[in-house]
Order: sequence, then C-alpha cells, then structure tokens
Amino acid sequence: MAAEKEISVAGTVTTNEWSDRAVVVTGAAGGIGKGIVAALLEAGAKLVLSDAHSDQLEHALRSLDVPRDRLSSFVANICDEAQVNALAEHALERFGKLYGWVNNAGTIELGPALETTRTAVLTQLDTNVVALFQCCQAAVRAILGGKSGGAIVNVASNAGKVGFPHMIGYSASKAAVINLTRNLAEEWAPLDINVNAVCPGSVRTAMLRRVAEYHAERNGLQTDEVLAGFISHQLSRAIEPVEVGRVVVFLLSDSARIIRGQAINVDAGDTPY
Ligand SMILES: NC(=O)c1ccc[n+]([C@@H]2O[C@H](COP(=O)([O-])OP(=O)(O)OC[C@H]3O[C@@H](n4cnc5c(N)ncnc54)[C@H](O)[C@@H]3O)[C@@H](O)[C@H]2O)c1
Repeated sequence: MAAEKEISVAGTVTTNEWSDRAVVVTGAAGGIGKGIVAALLEAGAKLVLSDAHSDQLEHALRSLDVPRDRLSSFVANICDEAQVNALAEHALERFGKLYGWVNNAGTIELGPALETTRTAVLTQLDTNVVALFQCCQAAVRAILGGKSGGAIVNVASNAGKVGFPHMIGYSASKAAVINLTRNLAEEWAPLDINVNAVCPGSVRTAMLRRVAEYHAERNGLQTDEVLAGFISHQLSRAIEPVEVGRVVVFLLSDSARIIRGQAINVDAGDTPY
C-alpha cells in the first residue's frame, strides 16, 4: 500500500484507479442510489447493487447498459445483520476483493414532533443509524479480507445539520450518521479505511416526492407546487442524483485520502456549514 501511495502522489499512475475496484451500493434501486451507481460506472468501477426491494433492484439492473462482468446485484434488507453479512460475502465471491461501500439506503417518517411516537423514532434510528453502522462493520471486514485499504461513504442529509419541521426522527438519525462517520474515520484510519459522508439537500427522488405529498396534504396544496419550492436557492434548480453520485465517487477515490470524517454538503450552497 505504501509504495502505491508514493507513486500516486508523484502523479505517474496511468491506469484508471477504478478498473480493479469493486464497490457495494445500498439503496441502489432508489433515486440517489441510481445516481451513485451511474457515477461509479462512469468512473469505471465494478459494482454490487443492493436494495431491499427485489423488483425495483431488478428493474434498476436491467436499465444499465454496461458489461455484466462489472455488475452484480444482491437483495438485502440492511436492518437484518445476517443479510448484510451475506451481501458482503457475495461481493467478495463475485469480485474476489472489495474496495468500497456506499451506505445510501435510508428511510423517513414525517410528523409533528408532539405526535411522533417512540416507534417512529426507533424505526428511523434503526435503519438510518444502526443498520448503516452494521453495514460499515461488514464493509470493513470484507475490505480487510483483501489485505488492502478502502473507503466508505455514508449518505447523511442537510437535515442532520439544520432543523426542518416535522422531521424529528429523521434529522436526529442523520445527525447521528454525521457523528458516527467522524468517529469511524478516526478509529479506522490506521486500517487505511477512509470514511466520509455526504449531506444532500433536496434531490428529485421518490423520497422527496413523499415529503412534498405530506406537506401538500397538510397545507391544501398540490404536490407539484410544493416540489417546485424544493429547489436550491443558489442554483435555481433541483439537484440531480448523479451530481450527488459524482461527489461520492470523489470521496471514495485516492484523491480524497486527505479528506477524512467529513460531512460534505451536496446541496448547492443551501446549508452554511
Ligand atoms: N432525496 C433527497 O432529497 C435526500 C436528501 C438528503 C438525504 N437523502 C438520503 O439519500 C438516501 C437515498 O434517498 P432517496 O431520496 O434516493 O430515497 P428513495 O426512497 O428514492 O430510495 C431509497 C432506497 O433505499 C431502499 N431502502 C430503504 N430501506 C432499506 C432497507 N432497510 N434495506 C435496504 N434498502 C432499503 C429503498 O428500497 C429505496 O430503493 C437516503 O439515505 C436519504 O435519507 C435524500
């Protein structure tokens, strides 16, 4: 590893760093997941697409026009530890070694704070934090099995940094992802595992549409009217999933080895810190 790093710094590497690197993406059948997959394929990585929903995963896989030796898929609910471990084993069996893992799968339950139940909060903490953490563990065990380093990117949210109404459980869970990322980056640096997070703003996906539907119903508006307000104020348009994906690719890459434990806003400037 040390020799490779020196060569990389000298700028003499001519081969694509991604050509022999396999990455697992969870929530790969969803909106941002597809953008991350597209960006990683654009970079030249090999991929294991994973999602809890087999039909949607199959559909996402069928839509990709790339050689099948670069792709694999595995249905797994990240809240089931055995399924997460099986996903990591599948990645190793399929590609021989694993370099990276993107924890993108997530869930949201909206509601006024005073009416939010313990169950609603725990469901979001379970999926967005506990399951994500267990994915990090499985990822690191698999990466280290290949006797090399690697990288993890966690998909947090700008809701983990600033307050939004009716998102109490979600916001708390994403704030936890940001801190967990900082912690793991520190602890796993000696293992040569880099860990960072991205904090998207409003990205046009099914999840954002559900948020818009919720607010539309409460305020007597049309969903599209609410969605039209969910744009970046500085960019004056919505953020596309592949734009988030390209930042994820950068954070996984060798060029980002000096960025560690950070939660990078991918919200076109809406969040000030
Ligand atoms: N869309 C946004 O504006 C936005 C903003 C900030 C953060 N995010 C985060 O980005 C990530 C992706 O969100 P999205 O907008 O693409 O949502 P989405 O609903 O379109 O996709 C989420 C995907 O995750 C999968 N998933 C959910 N729970 C799972 C589980 N337990 N096991 C395995 N797969 C599971 C779903 O099947 C779905 O395919 C989430 O973590 C979300 O919190 C989204």
